[in-house]
Formats: sequence, structure tokens, C-alpha cells
Amino acid sequence: MKTYSLKIKEITRETSDTITIHFKQPLFSKIKYKSGQFLTIIVPINGKNERRAYSLSSAPNIDENLSITIKMIENGLVSNYVDKHFKAGDKMEVVEPMGHFCLEPDKNLERHIVLFAAGSGITPLISMAKSVLVFEPKSTVSLIYGNRSMQSIIFKQTIEEMQKKYGTRFNVVHVLSRAEEDWIGYKGRIDKTLTINVLNLLPKFDNDKTEYFLCGPEGMMTAVTEALVYLQTPKEKIHHESFFSASVKEEANNATDNVSRTVTIILDNEEYQISVKPNKTILEAGLDAGLDMPYSCQSGLCTACRGKKKSGEVKMDEDEGLSEMEIKEGYVLTCVGHPMSEDVVIEIG
Ligand code: FES
Repeated sequence: MKTYSLKIKEITRETSDTITIHFKQPLFSKIKYKSGQFLTIIVPINGKNERRAYSLSSAPNIDENLSITIKMIENGLVSNYVDKHFKAGDKMEVVEPMGHFCLEPDKNLERHIVLFAAGSGITPLISMAKSVLVFEPKSTVSLIYGNRSMQSIIFKQTIEEMQKKYGTRFNVVHVLSRAEEDWIGYKGRIDKTLTINVLNLLPKFDNDKTEYFLCGPEGMMTAVTEALVYLQTPKEKIHHESFFSASVKEEANNATDNVSRTVTIILDNEEYQISVKPNKTILEAGLDAGLDMPYSCQSGLCTACRGKKKSGEVKMDEDEGLSEMEIKEGYVLTCVGHPMSEDVVIEIG
């Protein structure tokens, strides 16, 4: 796992509660990444290095900077700290880009990329849209984007400029849940019915030439997936990312659970007993106890902290990083895991 100390070139405000941090790429050996990947930032707060993963909104080989977009979470420790304390010229520690929810453009392809986003779920998808529009000249992109109101649309101006530039190659459908009175577009949330209706209006491509990328709250992704399954979309054409990982962690830090539990960690064949306090994750408790547990993003995305549960019950704030098979086999992510019984034993490695 490689880390960098990157200089902040600029911080732009996207909406009242969302900012984009633009990092300067290192002068020599630029950081490579793919559209859809995320960057983990390491922020020292109260003597502790807090980590959060945020999707990259910049596009490789298009945007000069490496940019992440951060939505402030109410009482969220890291998002609000970053907003208050960092400015252009400051340096920030980051872990190299990671993530499997990505799209690599291929200039020979002629396909339809359909993006479903809600709120800050737009972040990895705007990067994908840029990459496809620039590097796949025969392909078309459609974006279905849900927000509360016009004011809360992140990258509104960028999207409008892209629409002007790419015309029929970039279709955008905004859906607003608390639309202003003069709004004449779709109202409500992106649900199953709306998804089917909107898909009917989009350009028609063969099933095998259409790929769907979903990023947003669980409810939206479930509804869109149900609609796509109903329309007989092959499962391998549907890709999704739970961008809420960072948010979930921020909220989990504020959640109230008043039970401390003892967890046994097996690390390098040694057994350790740690006490996991309310609002702490198993990884945090292990690190606090001085255990050399592996981790990276601390957001449930990279699986670096993966361990196998030998007994007990663990609740994960987020399990998107694990496959169904891994979950069945008892794997857990300690960075987002909380013990729910007294007999939790986890083997790391
Ligand atoms: S540290 Fe990345 S998933 Fe836990």
C-alpha cells in the first residue's frame, strides 16, 4: 500500500454541503488511476490518524488534477474537519487509488453506458462519463441522476457543459424529490417504475452493448437493479458501488450503542483479547490495543482488513467490499465491523 503527501491546489464548493478537493499530481511519476476508483485520505484529528475513502471525480488522462468530492455528513468527524481546516497549499496524506468499481474506456467499442446516481453517488460516475465521452467516440452515455432539488445537484454546471459539448452522445435525466415549483422534469425518487419508464426513452442498444453503473443509497440501487432484472438485463452488465461507505463510517462513529464487548483476534497464530467499546469498530479497538492489524481505506471498500469469523456475531456497517460467497464463508471487514455477541473470534490473514 503506497501513500503520498499531496498538495491541495484548490478546493471548490459544489453545493452548500459538498466540496471538491483538487490535488496537484506529483511532478514526476503521476499517480495512475481508473475512473470509478477511490482515494483514501489520512487526516490527523486529536492525535489520531483518521482515514476515509472518497471517490475520485476527476478523470484519468483528461483532468490535470486528482480530485475527490466530499459531502459533509452531519456531525461527521472527518468530512467537517477537512472542510474547516484545509485550504489550497496544504498537504494531505493519501493512500494510492483503489477499488474495483471502475470503467476503462476502449476507443474501438460502440456501447451504451447507463449511469444511475443519487446525491454524491455522482462522484465516480462523472469520472466515468468523462472518460467514455472523450476516449470512446462511438459510445453513448446516459445519466439518470436523483437529487432533492436543483440546488443540491452536484456538478450541475459541468453536466450542462458536457451536454452542450456532446449533444446526443450524452443524455441526462434529472429526478428531483423536492423539486422547485417551476421544475418540469421528473419528480420523486429513482424507483423501479421510474427506472423502467426512463429506460424506455433512452437510445436503444443491444443488451450485450449496454453496461449499467449504479452509485447511491441502498434503496435506489435495489430499485434500479430490480427494474433491470425485470427487463432481463444480464447480471454481469450491472455494476454497483455503495458510495456511502465513508458516510456510514462517519455516522457509525456517532451511533450510540452502549455495550462494550470482548473480541478475540487471532493474528499471526497468536490470540489477543480486545475490548470493543460502543461506537468503535473492531479494527479501531485492535489498533488502540496496539495490534498490528492490516487495513487501508477504513471504509469497507478495499478488503485489506478482512478476517474470518470463527464464532459469534458481527454486524458490518457496510459489506459491499465482500462477495456473497465471502460473506457466506464468514469473512468480515473489521474496519466496519461491530461485535454483536460476547463470543466473537476473528482470524486475520
Ligand atoms: S480497511 Fe479497507 S475494507 Fe477495511
